[in-house]
Amino acid sequence: DADLAAKGEKVFRKCKSCHQLGEGAKNRSGPVLTGIMDNPAAAVDGFKYSKALKSAAEGGLIWNETELAAFLAKPKAYLKGTKMSFAGLRKETDQAAVIEYLKSFEE
Ligand code: HEM
Repeated sequence: DADLAAKGEKVFRKCKSCHQLGEGAKNRSGPVLTGIMDNPAAAVDGFKYSKALKSAAEGGLIWNETELAAFLAKPKAYLKGTKMSFAGLRKETDQAAVIEYLKSFEE
């Protein structure tokens, strides 16, 4: 849905201080998010993840819509010990929109 992705681009402003996407994207304080949707967690080369996210990944965590919406809603509640210092996206519409935007950056 193009409208939802456009809304998601605006929501992504909240993420840009830490995350890059698309051509030339580099890891910053957060990992590159290109191709993140429906792929395994903690898999970006060269990024130093928290133990919490690494063990969730070892347990098989895949960033599908359900898991990512839950993480984005309240990162520290969803994943105790994560180093993503972000309060969260309270509105479900914002979660859905940013997820739609991320989907448009598949590798
Ligand atoms: C991890 C998305 C905001 C810092 C992640 C991951 C996703 C994500 C999908 C998991 C990446 C992976 O498994 O490879 C988002 C979105 C945001 C946002 C959509 C905005 C709505 C932020 C902000 C910061 C940040 C503002 C910095 C203050 C991090 C860090 C990690 C991470 C450090 C690694 C977490 C860990 O190792 O526990 N983010 N993020 N993120 N993010 Fe964000």
